Amino acid sequence: MHDIVVLKDNQELAAEAARQFVALAKAAIDTTGKFTVALSGGSTPQKLHTLLANQYKHSLDWSKVFVFFGDERFVAPFEPESNYLMADETLLSLVDIPEENIFPFATIDLSPEEAAELYEKELKKFFGERPSFDLILLGIGPDGHTASLFPGHPEVLNPSDAFVRAVYDSPKAPPIRLTLTYALINQAKQVIFLVGGQGKTEALKNILEGPADLPAAKVRPENGEVLWLLDREAAKGLSLPAEGV
Ligand code: 6PG
Repeated sequence: MHDIVVLKDNQELAAEAARQFVALAKAAIDTTGKFTVALSGGSTPQKLHTLLANQYKHSLDWSKVFVFFGDERFVAPFEPESNYLMADETLLSLVDIPEENIFPFATIDLSPEEAAELYEKELKKFFGERPSFDLILLGIGPDGHTASLFPGHPEVLNPSDAFVRAVYDSPKAPPIRLTLTYALINQAKQVIFLVGGQGKTEALKNILEGPADLPAAKVRPENGEVLWLLDREAAKGLSLPAEGV
């Protein structure tokens, strides 16, 4: 079953996501001494990042926050499409998080396969053999993709045991990407999907009300929770009673 919360608009969506992020971070830091999070790419998380960097700048001990990425475009970290660059500009460069707490994908001087293998090694070095994030933030595309797991792609059709895969023909530009896989995502303690705007209504209905045959529907943490934070635009096709906030 999915937890679904519908917010009035994308500003309220970001505000609720920020509240959830900070609450999860404080709880994890209280219990384990650290908070591990994989950030999502794309445009939706930017408002969340801005709120965290401003309203919550001093609400967290950022030295205990460890930031990874759910996926990355295979471009240099200074290219405008880079998810790392977006996170750095909207959040990471604006809070007191040590550089050694940030784990970007290596996207230069390596092949995509080498970069995927290196990131998997970094994940295992940090977490051990079974990485389990406290929080993985995800978005979905109009085709129901999430991270860089796209419809019809091998990693979606036949999920592997690998934690990180290279993608070579992403239908969402740029074509070459790196992505966490279901094998890793489904070990998370908490997944939060942030979905706003009218373009994803059909995909959302498929995922939440069936036939649930799109990539994001395969995010089902074995021992974790999934929270869907939606704005009214995105949720308007749903027939489920979704509590507002
Ligand atoms: C990426 C993202 C991707 C994104 C969705 C939604 O690298 O593009 O990881 O999965 O989350 O496509 O993107 P928007 O938030 O821009 O709609």
